[in-house]
Amino acid sequence: MNFKGKNFLKLLDFSKAEIEHMIDKAIEFKKMKKLGMPHKYHEGKNVALIFEKTSTRTRCSFEVACRDLGIGVTYLDPAGSQIGKKESIADTAKVLGRIYDGIEYRGYGQEIVEELGANAGVPVWNGLTNEFHPTQILADFMTIKEKFGTLDGIKLVYMGDTRYNMGNSLMVGCAKLGMHFVACAPKKYFPSKELIETCQEIAKSSGAVLEFIESPEIAAKNADVIYTDVWVSMGEPVDVWKERIDELSPYQVNKKLMSYAKDTAVFMHCLPAFHDLKTAIGKEMGEKFNRVDMEVTDEVFLSKQSIVFDEAENRMHTIKAVIDLTI
Ligand code: CP
Ligand code: NVA
Repeated sequence: MNFKGKNFLKLLDFSKAEIEHMIDKAIEFKKMKKLGMPHKYHEGKNVALIFEKTSTRTRCSFEVACRDLGIGVTYLDPAGSQIGKKESIADTAKVLGRIYDGIEYRGYGQEIVEELGANAGVPVWNGLTNEFHPTQILADFMTIKEKFGTLDGIKLVYMGDTRYNMGNSLMVGCAKLGMHFVACAPKKYFPSKELIETCQEIAKSSGAVLEFIESPEIAAKNADVIYTDVWVSMGEPVDVWKERIDELSPYQVNKKLMSYAKDTAVFMHCLPAFHDLKTAIGKEMGEKFNRVDMEVTDEVFLSKQSIVFDEAENRMHTIKAVIDLTI
């Protein structure tokens, strides 16, 4: 399996075997890291990390993964470059492609990272766009594999804003790997018709089951994984909060919702999460709308069923695998 020089922009561009290979590679890297085995396989290389939106996990994962692989990094923050303001995406790609051996991009439209990928001449990795968050899905699936020993037959129920980067990407990932994916939300929050059709086509050969259900109780029945994400994503206007709270509150992951799932079910969230009032935005919105939590209760977030911090750790191992395989 040869990934050298290939972009990692969305899971739709990869086969089941390729996705599984990336996850297995990450599991191998995790073992090596725990055993203290050095793996500076790419000494002398350099990568650029472009972040047009903020990040904790993704940025730290790229930086540590690169350091472990012997790769130098340059971090470009949302204000600190000419990208898109004084220099086009294509020109930026061509410039950075001359200097670096790989480029990570986090930002807005998927078309931006696609354009970078088409022009850079070195691998480009998607660190999150509005439409997709593919490195997150590798970490999520690795975590599920660690927990259940397999991805086969896993029923993953995604609660909330299923039409954004996380819902879209989990649907694609489940379709590719032949899993059971359920989007649970009011109809208007389902993924686009085009993406659903694409995934249904993939499911025909992978054996995946894709469902779109409005009732949380029906959707969560027999689930192995209950997954949610914030109701308002980065870059969205602050005035959508009220509508989201009104429409998505019935889809909050709480103890009652978890009780519909299997006893062995786990709770997952890409993070950051609004599960209490200990963040500036959580506090502001909580006070404004008279709530102490949003998409998940503190009780579920901190419960034994919650594997969110394993997921967060696995971001680093999976991102390392992607870099190692493509650079
Ligand atoms: N899950 C995730 O992408 O986290 P960050 O926004 O902190 O990178
Ligand atoms: N949907 C979230 C994911 C954060 C990792 C966002 O785009 O803000």
